Amino acid sequence: MGFTIIKNGTVVNSDNEFKADVLIEDGKIAQVAETIAVPEGATVIDATGKFVMPGGIDTHVHLDMNIGVFSTIDDYTSGSRAALLGGTTSYIDFINPDREIGTFVDAYNDWRARADAQTVTDYGLHCSVPWFDEQTAKDMETLVNELGVCSFKHFLAYKGRLQLSDEDIIASFQHCKRLGALPQVHAENGDIIVAMQKDFLARGLTGPASHPTRPAHVESEACERACTIAAAAGVPLVVAHNTNKFSIDAIERSRKRGNRVFTEVCGIHLALDESRYFDPDRTWLDVAHHVLSPPLRAREHVDALWGHIVNNNVDLVGSDHCSWSTAQRQRGRDDFTLIPNGCAGIQERTLIMWEEGVMAGRLTRTGFVNLVSANPCRLYNLYGKKGVIAVGADADISIWNPARDYTLSAQTHGSKIDYSVFEGKVIHGCPETVMVRGTVMVDDCKLTEAAVPGFGQYMPRKPFAPAVYGTLEFADRKREDMEKRLVRN
Ligand code: URP
Ligand code: ZN
Ligand code: ZN
Repeated sequence: MGFTIIKNGTVVNSDNEFKADVLIEDGKIAQVAETIAVPEGATVIDATGKFVMPGGIDTHVHLDMNIGVFSTIDDYTSGSRAALLGGTTSYIDFINPDREIGTFVDAYNDWRARADAQTVTDYGLHCSVPWFDEQTAKDMETLVNELGVCSFKHFLAYKGRLQLSDEDIIASFQHCKRLGALPQVHAENGDIIVAMQKDFLARGLTGPASHPTRPAHVESEACERACTIAAAAGVPLVVAHNTNKFSIDAIERSRKRGNRVFTEVCGIHLALDESRYFDPDRTWLDVAHHVLSPPLRAREHVDALWGHIVNNNVDLVGSDHCSWSTAQRQRGRDDFTLIPNGCAGIQERTLIMWEEGVMAGRLTRTGFVNLVSANPCRLYNLYGKKGVIAVGADADISIWNPARDYTLSAQTHGSKIDYSVFEGKVIHGCPETVMVRGTVMVDDCKLTEAAVPGFGQYMPRKPFAPAVYGTLEFADRKREDMEKRLVRN
């Protein structure tokens, strides 16, 4: 593969930024230094005036996801191409086991076969836990110890499909603890949501403006409960797609009691608010395009999320990319509960964080790298290989031009969806050149011929991530000592 050298740029990592050249050899970073002589035959990329950053990692995406009636419009190819156009060089998708198809391991094999064939960039896998029994426990062990899947999502919502009882959640959390896996939760109270949906439908309120029948306190109740269950199990926890100040308050309360809870926020909840549902000038379709769960929130919550980002209270930013076409949204024409849930954002996540974070003065560039790349890598045990510009790391690099504007639009985005909820938003700066393991996938803001299906590789991950589990053994020892005293008494 030979040498590539990035000259005269400013390297931005999560802890520092400095002027440096970056030498790449055979897909890995070989040297980072103030001045590096150009090796013979090397490809030279001039990064004068630009920021050389580790590629983003989006640890919350759903590609080629089947919901029985149809699949998301983005498969692994279009989804990963969209990611690259936003400077995101790897992502973690979710395996969704289905009893009718087989075990969790069967589901893993199915996911690997499709993703390996289609993906343009590197990916890892989380696994959802829609039921928990003895076989599940065995499968989780296999996934963690043999197949590189070390994080499991638990649903407190989606009653009748994915929702687990508290009894199953604690059993699964305890199992995660034994395995060194990281549990995640979708924190909304599914029972309350179903009751509210029934009530709205009975009153003839069938349109998508009724989707926020899942208010902020219904989310924060589930969040608080998930934190309580995780504390009882003594396991770290990621609360996915937090949208509101009550939930983050609940997480803070839990953290203050010594529990290790990590907060994910998604780009869309930082960019848009609930006025998209209630604007009388919007058509049915226009509103339906914004149906995702948890839903968009009032501006006071959006502002509160940003406040928490400024205060270093948010651990990672994902996209929850889950793309449905206009035609697919029509499924819920007469009943908003049938509109498929989710919005696209795998490309826009980094661009939103740049514009609303860095350009708005709420985030430093190092803070930006931390939230969209380094810290997600730490939590999901990929840091060092990904998430940093350092010797030995994969050369997954996004060269950001702060002087080049980029307009978000369905005309130009990489996703296959036929609309964009961000249509017309101007970003002041963009990833002009993006490389994966040293291969240039985006040049001059356009995909190159190298961006082909199958280029991407599966990223197996190991349990007991130091950033998640490190020092937890001391807390366990304390707990065990206490238990011994209880036995004596
Ligand atoms: O509406 C959403 N977020 N759909 C994707 C599935 C999930 O809950 O993350
Ligand atoms: Zn979710
Ligand atoms: Zn999701």
